[in-house]
Amino acid sequence: RIAYVNGRYLPIGAPAVPVEDRGLQFADGIYEVVKVLNGRFCDLDRHLARLERSLAALSIPMPMSRAALAAVMRETLRRNALSTAIVYVQINRGVAPRNHLFPEDVEPSLVVTVRRASLPKPRELAEGVRVITLPDQRWKRCDVKSVSLLANVLAKQKGAEAGCREVWLYDADGLVTEGSSSNAWIVDRDGRLITRPLGPEILGGITRSVILELAQTAGLEVVERPFSVEEAKAAREAFLTSTSSLVLPVTSIDGQPVANGVPGSITLELLARYRNHLQ
Ligand code: PDD
Repeated sequence: RIAYVNGRYLPIGAPAVPVEDRGLQFADGIYEVVKVLNGRFCDLDRHLARLERSLAALSIPMPMSRAALAAVMRETLRRNALSTAIVYVQINRGVAPRNHLFPEDVEPSLVVTVRRASLPKPRELAEGVRVITLPDQRWKRCDVKSVSLLANVLAKQKGAEAGCREVWLYDADGLVTEGSSSNAWIVDRDGRLITRPLGPEILGGITRSVILELAQTAGLEVVERPFSVEEAKAAREAFLTSTSSLVLPVTSIDGQPVANGVPGSITLELLARYRNHLQ
């Protein structure tokens, strides 16, 4: 595997990032994860727009133009000779002796890596996945796609130890914010699609934004409002969305089956429409 690191294409194991990169010292950086299917980047413009918003929120300049960054992503993909892949882009504030204050005159660091995409397996889509719920212990700017992911990592690990694919996080009021690396959705008794509105408590998922548009086209009623863990357990359907999980049915929450414990029809309809969007 080949990585792009600050202007060079290197074997992924090569020592490349300076030890005083602020990404290492402070997790002072942002990232994007973009899907490639059959050699084509999916929703690349939306991902690059979000990347620029994340950078702006942290006052980190773009290391190069959007077009140049897209070219680096394409070249890294090409060098890895994959047509179905996940491209990871990370931009850190830069390299400087450790000091919390922003350093002056540093250039942001840019790393791009590519790996084979592990999309949901047919069995996961057919049976759905289990989630548990845990308190959301993250910082208060989850709308920024920051590489400070310790609380997400700890939650995901606890979920895996409980045999679950994902963890749904809830706030102090018992309302679901999102998953540790995905957005959370339910379908209520009246067939309405419900997901938390954009705000600092969640990442504005690219998949989420696409699904909202596809739901409108499908004539589904959508309500962007917070829902509680209790409401999710009593929902007719539940699912999660992310770049690598697509639209993934959730059929069990904290060990309780959602409805009759099989993927719901609206979920599967949205998955089909999403796949169609990706073509
Ligand atoms: N995760 N919420 C969180 C906290 C996420 O980390 C992600 C994505 C999403 C979904 O966003 P999108 O639809 O743009 O992928 C929501 C990426 C894939 C990751 O960390 O690997």
